[in-house]
Amino acid sequence: MSVIKVLPTIVQNKIAAGEVVERPSAAIKELIENSIDAKATLIRVDLEEGGKKLLRVIDNGSGISEDDLILAVTQHATSKIASADDLFAVETMGFRGEALASIAAVTQFSITSKIKNQEAYQLQVEGGHVKEVCPSSCQDGTVIEARNLFFNTPVRMKFLKADRTELSRANEIISCIALANPSVGFHLTHNGKNVFQLPPNQKLMERIQAVLPLNLSEAIIEIPPFTGDHFTIRGYLGSPYFIRPRRDHQYFFINGRVVKDKLLHGAISKVYEGLIPNGKHPVVLLFLDIDPSEVDVNVHPTKIEVRFSQSNSIFSAILKVCKDLLEPETLTQSIADSRNENSMPMVDFSFHQQNSNLNNSNAVNPLEASRSYDSDPALRSSAELVSSNNKKSSSALDILKDMYAVKDSSSYSRTDHKAKSFSNFVAEKQTNFDFEGASNQIPQIENVHREIYSNSNAEAKKIEDIDFNLVADESSIITIDKTFLIANINNELYMVDQHALHERMSFEKLKSKLDSGSVGSQQLLVPFTLDMKETDKAVLLDNQQELSRLGFELEDFGKDGLIVRGVPVEAPNLDIENFFFDLIQNFEFSNKASLDKGRHKLCATIACHSSLRAGDVPTHADKVELFRYAYQHRDLLTCPHGRPSVIIFTIKDFNRMFHR
Ligand SMILES: Nc1ncnc2c1ncn2[C@@H]1O[C@H](COP(=O)(O)OP(=O)(O)OP(=O)(O)O)[C@@H](O)[C@H]1O
Ligand SMILES: [Mg+2]
Repeated sequence: MSVIKVLPTIVQNKIAAGEVVERPSAAIKELIENSIDAKATLIRVDLEEGGKKLLRVIDNGSGISEDDLILAVTQHATSKIASADDLFAVETMGFRGEALASIAAVTQFSITSKIKNQEAYQLQVEGGHVKEVCPSSCQDGTVIEARNLFFNTPVRMKFLKADRTELSRANEIISCIALANPSVGFHLTHNGKNVFQLPPNQKLMERIQAVLPLNLSEAIIEIPPFTGDHFTIRGYLGSPYFIRPRRDHQYFFINGRVVKDKLLHGAISKVYEGLIPNGKHPVVLLFLDIDPSEVDVNVHPTKIEVRFSQSNSIFSAILKVCKDLLEPETLTQSIADSRNENSMPMVDFSFHQQNSNLNNSNAVNPLEASRSYDSDPALRSSAELVSSNNKKSSSALDILKDMYAVKDSSSYSRTDHKAKSFSNFVAEKQTNFDFEGASNQIPQIENVHREIYSNSNAEAKKIEDIDFNLVADESSIITIDKTFLIANINNELYMVDQHALHERMSFEKLKSKLDSGSVGSQQLLVPFTLDMKETDKAVLLDNQQELSRLGFELEDFGKDGLIVRGVPVEAPNLDIENFFFDLIQNFEFSNKASLDKGRHKLCATIACHSSLRAGDVPTHADKVELFRYAYQHRDLLTCPHGRPSVIIFTIKDFNRMFHR
């Protein structure tokens, strides 16, 4: 008897859904790509609860006929390819014929569609069970609604994140697709409120200005189109001044498709080699238009990975074109040229809303969005930015100034970088320019002084203090390579790594404050703006309570990122930007069970980013305090990450070494 059975269609679809619809943003990507394939010029996405409760995509594309509705939700049914040969010349976003079937298998799903001059029809599917096609009403185009994602696969539901995180991922993928399709208008709402809207028929540069943070879009230069054998490269490169701790503003598109590709990433890293420090990443928007027969897009169900048939020539072409562009003279001139004072016209996204089925009673008139955002901080700043863009393009600096009425513009170090020419950059680099310092200016803080242990806890000082015997004479401490300090304390040789030891001191202070309640917050004189991606911001805001216990005061700043208003009193010299990016990259926020371990890690990260570094020159008093601490805490001789911070040679060690 045969034991092998063909799985029922519903099970097949659920299995496919596991790959295609990992989370709301993946479903949104598929639905928007369908709208683009249907030649829509306006696409509206309505989400509720991060897309988990409702995910609705409305377009004004070609529509689906009554006869095709059931086929549209049938696995491996597509209008986009017809034979195996077509697979090697895919010109549409979709071709696998499985996205709608997959989404419909794990949601309460409906399609309402109308082809121009025909009647509208609707098809409902409940967890893969297809119902009857019924007459309906809607405007020309298609409306797809998917409610209660994973309602019939609770295990998957558990993996979904907080609403804010899911929303930010959706925001991110829509923004990427919007960059690839500047002629298409996009409108995103969440829980009935306007998140962002982008008018149709924008030029690429206008779209970039609308999507990227202002300071980044002003510091990119155009890659003049370069045509190779079967392909063309175009796009924009960011100035080496505007490097990022993460690859969060690198966008790669192949024939309009958003992709993640190692070859393209590798080529860009090579282009900036030697121009930016290791571990930092430039801003880049690279569009590769290639003969579809030269690229295989059928590599992964999500279609985000590709394979090239002539990868070497693409790699070399990117290298050549982009390297030339980053020559000092070209860069300085091009950045100046690329600044553009365009204002963004408003567009009416209210299409489809007259239909009673689709009417969202909370639907926002875009023009009113900036009035209604107050109650939802997640949306507020996006709306602010949209409205400020509508007034006239203002710089990030202007917006900040408006918000805080700050008099002293000199504190806005990041925008000041724009003023530097690339030749200055090269010159500075040649004279040991400190990249870290330049890109991560520490903001001015009230009453901050560099004395590392001036507020040291008195109790620690008492212990063995009486024996601590280090001469006030500066020559008593030797410095090696601006990193290591050596001194003789009571006939023992102390060798200190200044960063590691200071890190340990800061860590212990933070931890003891946290254990006894919470760490106080020190207000920054000038709030620090972190321009980070929505997904990263969401992770931080979701953990705001924990971060505020540590003294951080954070506020959502919409599309332009996050505002840091306060930092831990114990870490006044915190390198804010690097700290937060490090945190996002390395911190396991989701695991509440290991919160204690998490707090320990948080303190260690703060300590790391607020302590003396190799290369810093501490005062003599600071050095003495480092040695005092080393002397008093001989049992804590590592930094919080486990590296040695102090090595001590006793007389016994010397005797042994010299065979005495
Ligand atoms: N918004 C839309 N407007 C018009 N037709 C649509 C729309 N969405 C889907 N369709 C039709 O439904 C079919 C099935 O869509 P589905 O997304 O499942 O597959 P696909 O786009 O062909 O391939 P893939 O699975 O790779 O996305 C499409 O081929 C297309 O004909
Ligand atoms: Mg599709």
